Amino acid sequence: MDKEEQRPQTSPHVLIFPLPAQGHVNSMLKLAELLALAGLKLTFLNSDFVHEQLLRHTDVVSRFVKYAGFEFRTIPDGLPDEHPRAGHGFMEIFETLESITKPIFNEMLVNMKPRVDCLLADGVLGIAVDVAQELGIPIIQFRTISACSTWAYFAVLDMIQAGELPIKGKEDMDRLITSVPGMETFLRCRDLPGFCRVMDSTLQRISEDTRKNFKGHGLLLNTFEDLEGDILSHMRTKSPNIYTVGPLHLHLRTRLCESDQTLFEQSPNSFYKVDRSCLSWLDKQPKGSVLYVSFGSLTVLSSEQVFEFWFGLINSGKRFLWVLRPGIMPEKGDEGNNIPVELIKGTKERGCLVSWAPQEEVLGHGAIGGFLTHSGWNSTLESVVEGVPMICWPYFADQQINSRFVSQVWGLGLDMKDLCDRHIVEKMVNDLMVERRDEFLKSTTKMAKLARECVNVGGSSYCNLDRLVEDIRSMNS
Ligand code: UDX
Repeated sequence: MDKEEQRPQTSPHVLIFPLPAQGHVNSMLKLAELLALAGLKLTFLNSDFVHEQLLRHTDVVSRFVKYAGFEFRTIPDGLPDEHPRAGHGFMEIFETLESITKPIFNEMLVNMKPRVDCLLADGVLGIAVDVAQELGIPIIQFRTISACSTWAYFAVLDMIQAGELPIKGKEDMDRLITSVPGMETFLRCRDLPGFCRVMDSTLQRISEDTRKNFKGHGLLLNTFEDLEGDILSHMRTKSPNIYTVGPLHLHLRTRLCESDQTLFEQSPNSFYKVDRSCLSWLDKQPKGSVLYVSFGSLTVLSSEQVFEFWFGLINSGKRFLWVLRPGIMPEKGDEGNNIPVELIKGTKERGCLVSWAPQEEVLGHGAIGGFLTHSGWNSTLESVVEGVPMICWPYFADQQINSRFVSQVWGLGLDMKDLCDRHIVEKMVNDLMVERRDEFLKSTTKMAKLARECVNVGGSSYCNLDRLVEDIRSMNS
């Protein structure tokens, strides 16, 4: 049967537009697949750069072929090809999206056939909100970060008004912030989103864009009620229509099983070539003995920091699996083979180094006993789902606040925050893997169970996704 014939004629056309970054594209592709399973007609808009990475390293395009009415389209992100698109320099993309991508996007939407009934846009893409409003297209925004970070971003303008921002230097970092509802007792300056450390136009823009998230037809979040219910209740006073549909990767797994489809290879949306050899290395390690170390797709490290982590890991005496992706140390060149030889040699006894791992599978492997993470939201959720305790070393943006919640609110691990010192690394690894292991495992096991329940039939995320699909269907023009 022809693909178009399989799709119900009444299906509305949804355009999905993620920020062109690994963490964002990853979760929006998962959302797209969930909506495709529900039979919606979807166009997924990638930047040229991202699409090329996906074509090079994944089978994502062929995976989506089976969905009737699914199409990929591409658009320039405006950055030159040679731009590294990592580290703090990544933020330059917001300028080129505004000046170069926005007019192209506008024209694309005007000419798109069939007409777009609903724009499902990344909540950090202010340009999508502007264009949707101009063209009168209903928009649902998706924040790919946690509810707690979204809420803190929203509150930035209130913090400024209350005189709690700007932060007055390093000595001010432990001051308590009291103007974010729901976080009055534990939020310090150092836990605020990374952008709050510098008072510049980025901060103002992020807060204003976040306020726009609360004004569309609804706000979609990759989280679940049992994890962030308290903060969500505060958010609902500003935007009652919040759909919590996460953890998306688990939700997708569950729905694929339900619809009798073969499970796709995990972590299929990577911008890097996945090295699966670490799985056979893990097979040889004792249960719960390995610390998984990964800092996501945007973090960059100095060689000094890399060595502090490395000495800390070696001195802890624990086994470790460490992802050092190409370009993670820009001072050493941005392609592979940039990892110091002495580190590679010295790791062999108890460690395994890879340039990119199948992370979801790694975290689900029985040999993993802990995760040293940059607290990116996808990584945090993947760890929560597998019940793996975390040591958090947040790099930027939402990660500072995620790490505070992991340690202080959810009790799922330790927060190393701004420290990068071999003695601290060693102590934290030992605390997580030995001294306080049982305490953390109790909380992580409980939260993992709640995560599973919420994506099963009748669970909060399951019901919210059905409600989202119904609401989108009602937008059919
Ligand atoms: C970030 C974060 O989402 C967010 O904190 C920030 O605001 C902007 O984007 P990233 O730094 O890549 O993205 O982190 P994360 O959200 O954790 O996403 C990384 C993804 O890459 C995860 O889904 C993880 O499974 C995957 N990954 C990472 C691999 O598949 N293999 C690896 O070796 C490392």
